[in-house]
Amino acid sequence: MSTAVADRFGGGIALVTGAGSGLGEAMAARLAADGVHVLVTDVDRDRATAVATACVAAGGSAAAHVLDVADGHAVDALFASVWAEHGSVDLVVSNAGIESGDRVCDMTPEQWRRVMAVNSDGAFHCARSAVPRMAAQERPGVFAVVASTGAVTSLPYQSAYVASKHAALALVQCLDLELRAAETPVQVSALLPNWVRTRIFDDVRRGGDPVDADARATFARMATAIQEQGMEPGRAASLLLEAVARGDFWCFTDPERTAQLFEERALTLRELRPPARPGWLTA
Ligand SMILES: NC(=O)c1ccc[n+]([C@@H]2O[C@H](COP(=O)([O-])OP(=O)(O)OC[C@H]3O[C@@H](n4cnc5c(N)ncnc54)[C@H](O)[C@@H]3O)[C@@H](O)[C@H]2O)c1
Repeated sequence: MSTAVADRFGGGIALVTGAGSGLGEAMAARLAADGVHVLVTDVDRDRATAVATACVAAGGSAAAHVLDVADGHAVDALFASVWAEHGSVDLVVSNAGIESGDRVCDMTPEQWRRVMAVNSDGAFHCARSAVPRMAAQERPGVFAVVASTGAVTSLPYQSAYVASKHAALALVQCLDLELRAAETPVQVSALLPNWVRTRIFDDVRRGGDPVDADARATFARMATAIQEQGMEPGRAASLLLEAVARGDFWCFTDPERTAQLFEERALTLRELRPPARPGWLTA
């Protein structure tokens, strides 16, 4: 069956960061099923290998690479070797991301920096390395960044995550303006998933539970809500990739909920409202 993703990217090459789990894993699977050769990259070698192996077992084409997106030199080295091998890449998805769960004042500088280094610096490193290469190739590529609906909201106990996602979204918006000013034919897309059922909260828990009791309870509530109400990753990946394939800048998993969050954000700024604790956190 022909799909927008197969029509746009079929026969081409895509690189997805953080593709060893969750949304990235589901995007890799969907792209491979649609005839794209997928470069499955992740900081965790075993996860990347397992996902690439599953893509191939399902009849697709994929290769695994270890990549820590917080390491700009590593990003550039991998991208240089990928372009040297393949000549061009049709789609890069900067997807790798980690959560945070403590109060601002309970976080160590190292915890804060790691979240920023992965979620926002990672998007910068990928943009800096991929976009000029895509601009120089014969068939213009697409550079997509997975931000979050957290990029337009404020939440207690998630300051590093929320700040990093605001930064990632701002980066993509500025990049898009710059590319259009220079008439560079590289498509840029901002992906803002709402809740997706992944292990993102389980991974951050390995670093220890939040110090503060309310932070701990809120974090546990969010982790449960993601599992109980989050969208299935395969469906989220398909919705996002179809929007990218259509050429959209804004790509959502849940357009109605996202529009509501945009409206709340606009009201907060227009009417100078103080930040409000989201109702679902207290419910
Ligand atoms: N799950 C949600 O509800 C949700 C909502 C909005 C946005 N997102 C975003 O989606 C993206 C994917 O998250 P997910 O929910 O699939 O999480 P996940 O934890 O299931 O997968 C994230 C993957 O990124 C990898 N990773 C972590 N640090 C890395 C690094 N430094 N370099 C490379 N890879 C690294 C992990 O090993 C893991 O395989 C993230 O950017 C996240 O912020 C998720």
